Amino acid sequence: MNFSSLPSYGALMLIPILFFPLSKILSGYICRMLQLEYLDLYLIHWPLSAKPGKIGFPVPKDEQLAMDFNSVWAAMEDCLRFGLTKSIGVSNFSCKKLENILSFATIPPSVNQVEISPLWRQQKLREFCKSKNIVLTAYSPLGAKGTRWGTNEVMDNETLKEIANAHNKTVAQVCLRWAFEQGLSFVVKSFNKERMRENLQIFDWGLSLDDYKKINEIKQRRLFPKLEMVSPNGPFKSLEELWDGEI
Ligand SMILES: NC(=O)c1ccc[n+]([C@@H]2O[C@H](COP(=O)([O-])OP(=O)(O)OC[C@H]3O[C@@H](n4cnc5c(N)ncnc54)[C@H](OP(=O)(O)O)[C@@H]3O)[C@@H](O)[C@H]2O)c1
Repeated sequence: MNFSSLPSYGALMLIPILFFPLSKILSGYICRMLQLEYLDLYLIHWPLSAKPGKIGFPVPKDEQLAMDFNSVWAAMEDCLRFGLTKSIGVSNFSCKKLENILSFATIPPSVNQVEISPLWRQQKLREFCKSKNIVLTAYSPLGAKGTRWGTNEVMDNETLKEIANAHNKTVAQVCLRWAFEQGLSFVVKSFNKERMRENLQIFDWGLSLDDYKKINEIKQRRLFPKLEMVSPNGPFKSLEELWDGEI
């Protein structure tokens, strides 16, 4: 098959399955399913492995296993060296888990993709990633309103509504402008053309100091603590362990 004519961009996240070399999974997956020559960015989706078998998400509690971070990261590095991906990174990693990866990585993670919105600003993780040159990407920056896993809490927040009204913008635009001004990258999702357009219209205006004062007063709470990643026989017995206290 001639891959040179295929599109050559994309990003992928995978929960590594024990005993399967990642580079093998990725090369097979890219060739057959995605029909891409390589990825731009390849992330470890969660700091958690699954027993071999069928791939499901979230990983059923009785199939959750501790990740062997050394060998998984070595395989990620191989993917990059083999040219299967341009960058490698992680997702849902705390400062402590990132520090562990950094202690043995020969290629450090480029990105950590985590939940961030004005309701969960992740100050500690942001400072840590900045100090280590890791790009922090905000997922669910609108609280994933309307999705199966989402919440209305961000879009219905009264402070954000007040700021949006003052600028004649929408709450979504305030959230995305805030993330942009924080130097974060973000992945916002819409299937609606109008809303896609709306989400791009954040570059010709700005938030004021007064807006920041209000945003900084919004009570902080992880909106997606992910209890499904916690189990009595798995690697994380509590949310405290999953997030290393960053809750
Ligand atoms: N790494 C991880 O563990 C992880 C976890 C969660 C999500 N993610 C990724 O993060 C990306 C986005 O996150 P997400 O989908 O969870 O949340 P999100 O982008 O915060 O919210 C998406 C929801 O908001 C709606 N929406 C988008 N723009 C809007 C606007 N301007 N006004 C009103 N509603 C708007 C969308 O509906 P319409 O489509 O109808 O516009 C959709 O229901 C996805 O690509 C996802 O894969 C990653």
